[in-house]
Amino acid sequence: MRLLVTGGAGFIGANFVHQTVAEHPEVHVTVLDALTYAGNRASLDPVADRIEFVHGDVTDAALVDGLIARSDAVVHFAAESHNDNSLADPWPFVHTNIIGTYSLLQAVRAHDVRYHHISTDEVYGDLELGEPGRFTEDTAYNPSSPYSSTKASSDLLVRAWTRSFGIRATLSNCSNNYGPYQHVEKFIPRQITNVLDGVRPKLYGNGLNVRDWIHVDDHNRAVWAVLERGRIGETYLIGADGETDNRTVVESILEILGRDRDEFDFVTDRPGHDLRYAIDPSRLRDELGWRPRYVDFRAGLEATIGWYRDNEQWWRPQKAATEAAYAAAERGSGPEHRVRPAGSVRVPPGPRVARFREYPAH
Ligand code: NAD
Ligand code: DAU
Repeated sequence: MRLLVTGGAGFIGANFVHQTVAEHPEVHVTVLDALTYAGNRASLDPVADRIEFVHGDVTDAALVDGLIARSDAVVHFAAESHNDNSLADPWPFVHTNIIGTYSLLQAVRAHDVRYHHISTDEVYGDLELGEPGRFTEDTAYNPSSPYSSTKASSDLLVRAWTRSFGIRATLSNCSNNYGPYQHVEKFIPRQITNVLDGVRPKLYGNGLNVRDWIHVDDHNRAVWAVLERGRIGETYLIGADGETDNRTVVESILEILGRDRDEFDFVTDRPGHDLRYAIDPSRLRDELGWRPRYVDFRAGLEATIGWYRDNEQWWRPQKAATEAAYAAAERGSGPEHRVRPAGSVRVPPGPRVARFREYPAH
């Protein structure tokens, strides 16, 4: 099989390529990646002699068409992926996530190539804290941020191209991933590397927002299950029963690294910050027999911390610029949002942004 992997120099894509080379050695992998600030060629060093790397943009229709013409299947990871960046500047999200997906869909349509679309649980919006209920494949789309709305848009393009043009596509929507090679802008690597640098971790709002953590290798094995055995036109939710609030994650990181559990700061909340994500992965388990291997989040977190401790040369070049950008954003958010040491103040519930479903019925 000749497999095109877009975004293979990013966090999940690079781990997918490593796994594919190790567990599907018969597959010929071509990576297409624009090497944006989030892409890192070094993430592919361990498999460099086993894959082909093309430096290019998914919005480049001619390039994409040529690569897809010589592929049997495509897994499309490439995206602008960070919510905070999408709030500062939505345009790259519209461009890459929507136009990029469009150019891939036109090419797989022209060449009848199998397509798998990587998406996120954030297309469903959020759930209330402390209430039952999880996202299923039937949950209505209700994205909150520029990032998640462009991912939702791309999902809808895939569904429309499947129905209208008969392309052979599947989709998967996964919850928050953790593991090696994740950019230090993201929550878990940011806090691990802060603590390694002697800097206090930063919790948005009151730290009670919940994410449904899954190890990146479990996500990628699920992607392979869908690629090999998924029903064409179908969507599969991917999650590993990993619901944990942000404060607990930070306290665990501090504890594992031998610090006091309260050595963190609360900072300005993210505008529109989704409260809770939770995945019901029944379809994936029942239809495709997928099971997560990382069922102990704390053990997976310890391994991830070990990876960042051992691979400073990988993350160090990105760290200062990432923290400078966060500091500038924090300064721009006004004096009422100063950094507050944990325990020094009573923390009110984080601000809620009015959402459509909270308007009175009419
Ligand atoms: P990432 O930001 O780490 O990597 C994105 C990669 O895409 C980078 O290598 C970047 O260079 C590349 N890229 C960006 N724009 C491009 C363009 N125009 N052309 C070609 N390449 C381009 O992202 P990630 O966290 O690995 O996420 C990968 C995919 O998984 C995304 O589609 C994201 O929406 C989805 N997803 C992520 C998570 C998560 O927790 N990180 C969870 C669910 C779904
Ligand atoms: O749910 C899947 C999504 O998970 C993916 O689609 C996105 O690509 C991925 O980035 C992730 O989105 P989040 O916004 O949930 O991830 P992030 O790592 O940015 O933040 C995780 C939580 O931690 C969130 O509630 C915000 C909070 N946070 C984040 C940072 C960077 C903090 O409290 N402090 C921080 O410094």
